[in-house]
Amino acid sequence: MPVIQVQNLKKYYKVHQKEPGLSGSIRSLFSRKYYDAKAVDGVSFDIGEGELVGFIGPNGAGKTTTLKVLSGLLYPTSGTVSVLGFTPWDRKPEFQKQFSLVMGQKNQLWWDLPAMESFILNKEIYEVPDAQFKQTLDELVELLEVKDFLKVQVRKLSLGQRMKMELIAALIHSPRILFLDEPTIGLDVVMQKKMRDFIKEYNQRFNSTIILTSHYMDDVKELCERVIIIDKGRLLFDGALAEIIKKFANHKLLTAVFSEEVNREDLEKIGQVKEFDYPRAVISVKRTVASQAAAQLLQNFPVADLNIEEPQIEDIIREVFTGKDLA
Ligand SMILES: Nc1ncnc2c1ncn2[C@@H]1O[C@H](COP(=O)(O)OP(=O)(O)OP(=O)(O)O)[C@@H](O)[C@H]1O
Ligand SMILES: [Mg+2]
Repeated sequence: MPVIQVQNLKKYYKVHQKEPGLSGSIRSLFSRKYYDAKAVDGVSFDIGEGELVGFIGPNGAGKTTTLKVLSGLLYPTSGTVSVLGFTPWDRKPEFQKQFSLVMGQKNQLWWDLPAMESFILNKEIYEVPDAQFKQTLDELVELLEVKDFLKVQVRKLSLGQRMKMELIAALIHSPRILFLDEPTIGLDVVMQKKMRDFIKEYNQRFNSTIILTSHYMDDVKELCERVIIIDKGRLLFDGALAEIIKKFANHKLLTAVFSEEVNREDLEKIGQVKEFDYPRAVISVKRTVASQAAAQLLQNFPVADLNIEEPQIEDIIREVFTGKDLA
């Protein structure tokens, strides 16, 4: 039985259309014209308990909107959603106590107070018993290594320290479901890695169900076996990350190391030259002719070393987004 069920979810925002120029502004004061911005346009998926799913798509795809509906912050235009058996926008207290939404772009802590004060406030809101609060807090503080910063005003924390505190505040009531909207945004690579390690550990230790959005493919690659890709409010793909390569990658990459100088123009005859920096070149060729291309390369060029590789997941996903390989 899935813990999250989304069926044909649509969320259209009514947007006021302003006519250009001053007269247009005045006219639209009296006769307002609206159009529908179709942020989510018929999305369906199920998520099982304990899954850690990557929810990805380009800017404006509808990711945050979907997570807001799943959290009950927004009413959908149509469709049905069930999270732990609840309809999120009913905002039942029993539901509120079982999930959390963390937004990397938004500060949910009290800015002028130490993070500890926000944790205590959340403890009260979610009615977390004293002993459980203490245990959860100790555990999280240790995992995230923030012991020394609990009493520091949030505004004085670094971005990375603050994000860790945001996570603690969101997890203090031990939610079964976690929506993470770009939790690693803006962090340096070391801190991104720490966050990833934490998310992975948290998911495994507590079998919590997590939907994660990120524009960093490392997050997705390292954390999510399953990904849901959306664009313009529509679902493009739902399945194993490994499947994406099978389904969408119709190219392979030949990486050659040469023992003598070669001509770029000559290499172009083999395929699309992606990188050319003597003694190394990377050539993209159609999957179906990869082995012939490799043979050609070996025959006609002074090749010292040759590798045939799958394209980078980043590149494939970019192609999925731009629809190039969807046909
Ligand atoms: N309050 C709003 N009113 C009108 N349109 C909105 C509103 N919020 C979002 N939109 C539009 O809905 C679409 C989806 O936005 P959303 O924030 O869900 O995208 P996203 O996938 O989270 O993008 P990003 O990766 O940039 O965070 C966008 O076209 C956006 O402009
Ligand atoms: Mg977003």
